[in-house]
Amino acid sequence: MIKPLIYNTAILLLLLSPLSLSFHIPSSSKNLKTQSQSSDLRSATSDLPTPVHDEVQKANSFLTDDAMERAEAGSKEEKIKLSKDVTQTWTDIHAYAAAIREGKTSWEDISQDDMDYRLKWVGLLHRRKRTPGKFMMRLKVPNGIVTSSQMRFYSKSVSEFDEEIGVVDITTRQNIQLRGVTVEAASRIIEGLHELNQTSFHSALDNVRNVVGSPLAGISDTEVIDTRKLCTEVNDLIIRDASGAFGNPRFANLPRKFNIAISGGDDDFSHCNINDLGFHAVIAEDGSKGFNLDVGGYMSIKRVAESVPLNLWIPENSVVKLCDAVLTVFRDEGERKNRQKSRLMWLVEQYGVEDFTARILKEAGEGGFRERQPHVLRKDYVRQELLGVHPQNSTHSRVGLHIPTGRLTRYSCAALADLADKYSDGEIRLTVDQNVIIPNVDNDDLKQLEIEVDAIENVDFTAGLIEGNVVSCTGAQFCGLALVETKANARRVSKRLEELVEVPKAVRMHWTGCPNSCGQAQCGDIGLMGAPARKEIDGKKVAVPGVNIFVGGKIGESPFLALEPRIKGIPLDGEEIVTVLAELLVSDFGGVMR
Ligand SMILES: *[C@@H]1O[C@H](CO)[C@@H](O)[C@H](O)[C@H]1NC(C)=O
Ligand SMILES: *[C@@H]1O[C@H](CO)[C@@H](O)[C@H](O)[C@H]1NC(C)=O
Ligand code: SF4
Repeated sequence: MIKPLIYNTAILLLLLSPLSLSFHIPSSSKNLKTQSQSSDLRSATSDLPTPVHDEVQKANSFLTDDAMERAEAGSKEEKIKLSKDVTQTWTDIHAYAAAIREGKTSWEDISQDDMDYRLKWVGLLHRRKRTPGKFMMRLKVPNGIVTSSQMRFYSKSVSEFDEEIGVVDITTRQNIQLRGVTVEAASRIIEGLHELNQTSFHSALDNVRNVVGSPLAGISDTEVIDTRKLCTEVNDLIIRDASGAFGNPRFANLPRKFNIAISGGDDDFSHCNINDLGFHAVIAEDGSKGFNLDVGGYMSIKRVAESVPLNLWIPENSVVKLCDAVLTVFRDEGERKNRQKSRLMWLVEQYGVEDFTARILKEAGEGGFRERQPHVLRKDYVRQELLGVHPQNSTHSRVGLHIPTGRLTRYSCAALADLADKYSDGEIRLTVDQNVIIPNVDNDDLKQLEIEVDAIENVDFTAGLIEGNVVSCTGAQFCGLALVETKANARRVSKRLEELVEVPKAVRMHWTGCPNSCGQAQCGDIGLMGAPARKEIDGKKVAVPGVNIFVGGKIGESPFLALEPRIKGIPLDGEEIVTVLAELLVSDFGGVMR
């Protein structure tokens, strides 16, 4: 449900608290004087577009006294969240954008705390280091399902930015990131998203991230539970307030980010083992449907933790309740001083698994919860392929298209939207492997679909077993934390490997630019993580960008994280990396040199 927008109240709020917009006023003459600032902003808000709440309830008001005390004594990020409530950004962004559009200010005048931190509450991540003044805008795409109108809107949104940086990425959370976004464009994009029943709110920093579900929900005959409805409901718990408007102050000040994955069947396409909450669909002994729960999985620079199982089974219709309970406990009790220790796993360990279970059950109340239910994998189990053409029933098929490193251009977005309108009733599904699935295609149309896909640049109907299974984080092109460029290298190297080696089955290569491991190197059959390397140039060893190589990560029913690299410090530039990887493909993955 889309709430009617109530303009006046938000304008009133701004009038009442004009200083809530925290412009930082440097002394240089081009900038606004403090005196005129608030009145300028007031007139700038005359066309204020999208206030989302009739009354902005504060995120900080939901913290318990204890959590508040710990936040006050907490990390730099905690102090930023306390000094101005993050929910304020839901209206600030429109005022900032309007003021810039009217030439009254520029992004440099916005305080660094707002630019680089608080605007993350509307999904804006300032790429100060690589593209100053430009944002990556992260959306929410529950279960990774987008409509053709949304896809067309992404294309249109980035089309006003330089072609080089105005791109759209599919992420490892089955999500969309728009790149090259300016402050002045951001508010219009948010409005457009909201009109399309989608939002960018709550998608970065200390928020619950995109809720991942099965890309084959509703179209796989081995599915136990259709994850679409649940992902949407859990997403609504996070992004909407009690009235259904976008932005939920209840969960807007968490101690740290939080990941939820819901797997609808045996393939675990959602990767429960690396999420804070991982729901595995399991039919209970009496035949009712629900989920065994794993908790605490995450990846970071300091620690990579595989999730641990709780002795808990949750009926399908209590999933939202359980998420609500865990988020409440996490919000109120999670660590707020040392950010390296504020992910859920640390709270689980502080309690101990049993006491943690008891604590969240107490919070949740009645919900038909039971002990973990036994789960035996079918004898004939084979993980379903996502890429390529696969029959859904006697007349229709799903078609998995390869998107190299998940990078879409304005043109390929628009082309995908057209394809979806023509062949799948406007539906496009995103996968955590950064590809797309066009579902429900009439078998009679497959040939024509293939011809049309072949005409689209950067979208492949068929892809090699190496190239098709590359996953890559953002890397140095945009990410300030990157030690190396990833997407371009991933494409170059996988193309070379495809020419050199023939492999008998898919090899998943995961590229990640730094130990934060957004590209999940530890999950890959082969993982490549940005790292220092040395190379001999003119008889001298010099430092060059390189990678450490992890081998043997597993996903699916028996997940495994390769925690230590097998090979270290291979330079990215040149042929050595290709040779090393080709050898690995032969020694460990049954590859044969062509
Ligand atoms: C918008 O999304 C919500 C779920 O978030 C759904 O319940 C509602 O029906 C959708 N509205 C429209 C108009 O599609
Ligand atoms: C096959 O799936 C399509 C797409 O979901 C559906 O429209 C059609 O009715 C199904 N056909 C049969 C025979 O079940
Ligand atoms: S893994 Fe590192 S380089 Fe890659 S996107 Fe994440 S933070 Fe940036």
